[in-house]
Amino acid sequence: MSSSGFVPSSGAVPPTGAVPTSVVSPSSASVPPIISVPPAGSAESPFARVVGRLRSAGCVFAEDEARLLLDAAHTPAELAAMVEQRAAGQPLEHILGWAEFHGLRIAVDVGVFVPRRRTELLVRLALDHLRVGAGAVVVDLCCGSGAVAAAVLAAGPAAGAPAAEVHAADVEPRAVRCARRNLAGVGGVGGQVYEGDLYAALPARLRGRVDVLIANAPYVPTGAIDLMPPEARDHEPRLALDGGPDGLAVLRRVVAGAPDWLAPGGCLLLETSRRQAALLLDALARAGLTGRLTASDELDASVLVAAAPSDRGGRREPA
Ligand SMILES: C[S@@+](CC[C@H](N)C(=O)[O-])C[C@H]1O[C@@H](n2cnc3c(N)ncnc32)[C@H](O)[C@@H]1O
Repeated sequence: MSSSGFVPSSGAVPPTGAVPTSVVSPSSASVPPIISVPPAGSAESPFARVVGRLRSAGCVFAEDEARLLLDAAHTPAELAAMVEQRAAGQPLEHILGWAEFHGLRIAVDVGVFVPRRRTELLVRLALDHLRVGAGAVVVDLCCGSGAVAAAVLAAGPAAGAPAAEVHAADVEPRAVRCARRNLAGVGGVGGQVYEGDLYAALPARLRGRVDVLIANAPYVPTGAIDLMPPEARDHEPRLALDGGPDGLAVLRRVVAGAPDWLAPGGCLLLETSRRQAALLLDALARAGLTGRLTASDELDASVLVAAAPSDRGGRREPA
């Protein structure tokens, strides 16, 4: 169970093979529904029945999930349906319609990538950079639900790091709709969400003005997708997971375009895996950027931090 109270059930699977424990076993299909009438005289509570059903379906964190489902359902019939969806392997967050991320409740529609706790490292690093230059322009590319952009917007003022403008973009219309809801009015000002392929989605006026450019792009190698937990493999869009043969196809394009969009001295933050870092550092060097890997054991996360030259003539080491 993550500290957010959520099962890391559909946690992004890094291509390192560090696949999180799947919480629902596929063998659960034959188990009968739990919301049946308990035997006469049985003192079994709805909570116990839900826990029993989830457990029999292979849910590792059955009690925590049961509490959330009981809280969310308005009627016994709705509860029964939700529990059966969960037992069939649907991500808990899609059933609830939200995920907890960096202390926020982020709306996550079916068909939209579920934000992972490890991605909070991107938020922490973005806030560190914003503290240095308050009032900055932030872009969250491949934003999915917009969790990262929303967290930066929400935490900025409290962390002493208000961003002047937050922009987010994704190529997937369902993700864009979800992100628009999640960014509306956050931090008092909200953020703008665009639809389109990477930088092509952004307004031209942002070119050369981005102080913090963030991307959690798809980075699972195509061949590793079959090894992911069914919740991710079967319920999240392939476009959100598949990073091509070595997992870096989209990230290389992000890196190649970054120098045109970053402000002088601007910072690029890319979620990646430790295994991919060396290849990505090569790509950064080819784009004229220098970078370093920052890792968090607590979050099981790694982020490549790179900096644009502070003047257009020379290189700058990342802070
Ligand atoms: C791994 S998910 C991450 C979503 C979000 N950043 C997060 O951390 O929750 C990757 C996202 O990239 C989007 N994506 C994939 N290819 C893209 C492209 N060429 N241009 C823009 N977005 C893209 C997918 O639709 C998906 O929402």
